[in-house]
Amino acid sequence: MRCFCVLCTVAAAVLAILLLNPTPAFAQPKPVSFINDVAPIIKENCFACHDAKKRSGKYDMTTFEKLMAGGSAGGPITAGKPGESDFHDLMITKDERRMPPRDKGEAVAAEKAALISKWIIEGAKLDAGIDAKADLLKELRIRWKPPTPAIAYKFPVVVNSLAFSPDNKSIVVGAHHELTVWSLPDAKLTKRIAMRAERAYAMVFLPDGKLAVAGGRPGQEGDVRIFDLGGAKGKTENGVEFLDGVNDPKVMVKQLLDADDSVLCLALAADGKHLAAGGCDRAIRYWDITGGATAAKLEQTIENHADWVLGIALSADNKFIVSAARDKTAKVWDIKAKESVMTFPDHQDVVYGVALNADASVGYSIGKDKQLRSWKPGGDAKQIKNVGGHTDEVFKIAVSPKDAIVATSSGDKTVRLWDAKAMTATKTLPGLTDHVFAVAFSPDGTMVAGGSFAGEVGIWKVADPKDLKPVALFNATPGLPVKK
Ligand code: HEC
Repeated sequence: MRCFCVLCTVAAAVLAILLLNPTPAFAQPKPVSFINDVAPIIKENCFACHDAKKRSGKYDMTTFEKLMAGGSAGGPITAGKPGESDFHDLMITKDERRMPPRDKGEAVAAEKAALISKWIIEGAKLDAGIDAKADLLKELRIRWKPPTPAIAYKFPVVVNSLAFSPDNKSIVVGAHHELTVWSLPDAKLTKRIAMRAERAYAMVFLPDGKLAVAGGRPGQEGDVRIFDLGGAKGKTENGVEFLDGVNDPKVMVKQLLDADDSVLCLALAADGKHLAAGGCDRAIRYWDITGGATAAKLEQTIENHADWVLGIALSADNKFIVSAARDKTAKVWDIKAKESVMTFPDHQDVVYGVALNADASVGYSIGKDKQLRSWKPGGDAKQIKNVGGHTDEVFKIAVSPKDAIVATSSGDKTVRLWDAKAMTATKTLPGLTDHVFAVAFSPDGTMVAGGSFAGEVGIWKVADPKDLKPVALFNATPGLPVKK
């Protein structure tokens, strides 16, 4: 028999509502979150012109406070009223004056503009716990969590950087959100170190055995982090040790730089006491690491290029920084005088990399023009020699730590060795099947390695021009079959 007491009647009514109504009345849809929903839309569509540098219309949107304050016309957001908020109206307007300006970019997607309208209707509020003065890019970065690297990759990893270990017995490869370590010459995967950066664009071992890694997530963030590959004991599975370079402070011992876009190049001074980095924010940073990288002191931030800094080198006497950039120049910076002393324009196309000989009397640069060029680092930017040989863009350059030998890597799928004095090619190393994006010498100078777009790593002996047989040739993608 059915009971008609108050409790049961109410319960039955609630049950009826629940059954009839797919969205129960008490489950209000979630309010729009400024930081999770709105800020990413602004970042994507507006920051290009409304960041702290460009401030188009005197409007800087990089903090919540500034976003609400508006530009020269005053507050563009009226809480509760999207129709009276220029910030929203300018996105959806049919008028000529739109944001982004019609000739400069696509309109904001309708569903994204609708989300912004909803946020304004709900009061245009900032999420609890965030400072209105906080940098929004930093707040967005904090909220982003890197994925855990797959045990077996589905696609070959792009090798953007390589570094031989200080004992010359293994090689570290930049993979997808991780570093992988391979023993030599048997090319066995021995360690995987998860990291925040999606890609490692440059790596260099420091005098204390720690590894500096420059990298980032394209267009999102960039970093220089210091890893201690032997700092902790990780879980071992099938002979591979897994280290957590995202959360474990014994593995990721120091973050030197947190930037808004990728860091692309690194250079360690010959005395091991200074480190420099450059990247998409066009700046070069120069640190004193005399007390180790964990006690690094940022000495200079240099903005000398008009576009991404792609390559960098330091003179052994710590007098000069040389740099290569997307602005089609190589430049020399006098560290002590804090001034630019030379601009080398001859490539007339993107310059991907630079290097210096041991006494800094000769600079080398490579680029999209397929050339290797040498020049005098001081004075009037005089070119010494210009040599071709590579049949495609030349991406990377490295100088032997022992001999007067330069190595280059190219889109023509080869690594080349050059006599640094005569500027003649001594060896063209075959075996890779795709663009070679990374090149590195072993610390003892006996081996050179190249890494390709298709995940391949080739290692060859430097000596004997006739010996082209690789010491090792393998695919550094975890989970892909190892080719010998
Ligand atoms: C390609 C560059 C560019 C982009 C991208 C851009 N704007 Fe603008 N914005 C401008 C320029 C230039 C002005 C100044 C001229 C004007 O007011 O029309 C301006 C002005 C404004 C103003 C008026 C500021 C004032 O007080 O005068 C608002 C509001 C605005 N933009 C909102 C936005 C929003 C919202 C977005 C993203 C959806 C955006 N803009 C994206 C270039 C841009």
